Amino acid sequence: MMVAIGALVAATVILAVFLRLMFGPRSGAGRSPRKAGDRSGQPAKAQLGAVPDVSTNGAGPAPRPGPGKLPTIRPTAKQGRAARRRGPGELPPEALITFAEERKVAAIDDTFAALDRELVGLVPVKKQVEEIGSLLLVDRVRQRFGLVAPRPNLHMCFTGAPGTGKTTVGLLMADLLHQLGYLEQGHLVHAMRDDLVGEYVGQTAPKTRRLLDRAMGGVLFIDEASALYQPDNSKDFGLEAIEILLQVMENERDKFVVILAGYQDRMDTFFDSNPGMRSRVAHHLDFADYDMDELVAIGRLMLERASYYLSPEAEMAFRQYLAIRMQQPLFANARSVRNELERARLRHAHRLATDQQRRWSRDDLMRLEPEDILTGRVFPAPAASS
Ligand SMILES: Nc1ncnc2c1ncn2[C@@H]1O[C@H](COP(=O)(O)OP(=O)(O)OP(=O)(O)O)[C@@H](O)[C@H]1O
Ligand SMILES: [Mg+2]
Repeated sequence: MMVAIGALVAATVILAVFLRLMFGPRSGAGRSPRKAGDRSGQPAKAQLGAVPDVSTNGAGPAPRPGPGKLPTIRPTAKQGRAARRRGPGELPPEALITFAEERKVAAIDDTFAALDRELVGLVPVKKQVEEIGSLLLVDRVRQRFGLVAPRPNLHMCFTGAPGTGKTTVGLLMADLLHQLGYLEQGHLVHAMRDDLVGEYVGQTAPKTRRLLDRAMGGVLFIDEASALYQPDNSKDFGLEAIEILLQVMENERDKFVVILAGYQDRMDTFFDSNPGMRSRVAHHLDFADYDMDELVAIGRLMLERASYYLSPEAEMAFRQYLAIRMQQPLFANARSVRNELERARLRHAHRLATDQQRRWSRDDLMRLEPEDILTGRVFPAPAASS
């Protein structure tokens, strides 16, 4: 009897399961369509009304069209760049704009503020950077109005002595061009002659091309660019690198920006020997040597950022140091200031740490005194390298 009841219960359960499988609601039915259209793993919401990812180069897989939808056409790399340059939306002919708003949308105020805040002096350079920024901002708005706005030539030359801020401004320029949509990534690749020119036949072209590949989407900053050309050296492959550079600067000018840096006189000679290069460089920015007050202001700024300051007597000693140092052959403007202040920090730390029983205050830990500065009296003769 018990066996019969057990068999009946088992048969009922099996029948119920069978009926549910055949006619019941499908447990996966709600999931499967989303799964099919969501192969990227992106949540559905992220795809709805998403702005096209114009920062890609168009090489990625196209999104799969859903049933009954028109296929989404991804912008080509060129269209993508144009869209970034254009910024937000097209404007009807009767629209009015303000550049305060345009600057805000492009978020370039921060870059200009950094230029002002982080760099002492350099008034003509800052003015030129502002001018380039204005050109690009106007260009963007012109595009939104549907006006012809060919991409301006943005290759540049920065001339000036060591430590005058060329690399720092190069970095800010890369940021600015990125924010305005003229560079996809906005990184800066720093290079010197050896990064482009090989020693043996067949080395230069691949070397130069590799470097150019790395710089695509950003800035290629070539330091001491005049060294690329060595007319006295018959075995020099520099010209080969220059030829490739010229070609890519022309053909890929909407993908990257070259900044050539070096001393003014050497760059003049370089351009005289390479007129093709001169004609491809649209903006020349000249970085003047800093005067005493500017160097001291740069020093104060550097110390302030690190929570140090010079006592009035220490500032006098620092001026004395600079007066001597500026006359020496390897003086490197703001870089020399930075190096001397690094050394001053070291002496200050040693001065405090070696006086072990004395009580030091917070202010003592911040304040540099004359003995921390290498004054004229004790400054060693020309051997210093920076
Ligand atoms: N005007 C300035 N105000 C504040 N700091 C500055 C200024 N100019 C340069 N510096 C600082 O001095 C240091 C050297 O500057 P940078 O490397 O930009 O000079 P450079 O012209 O590229 O030098 P080099 O020709 O030797 O490569 C950096 O730490 C930079 O931040
Ligand atoms: Mg530099």
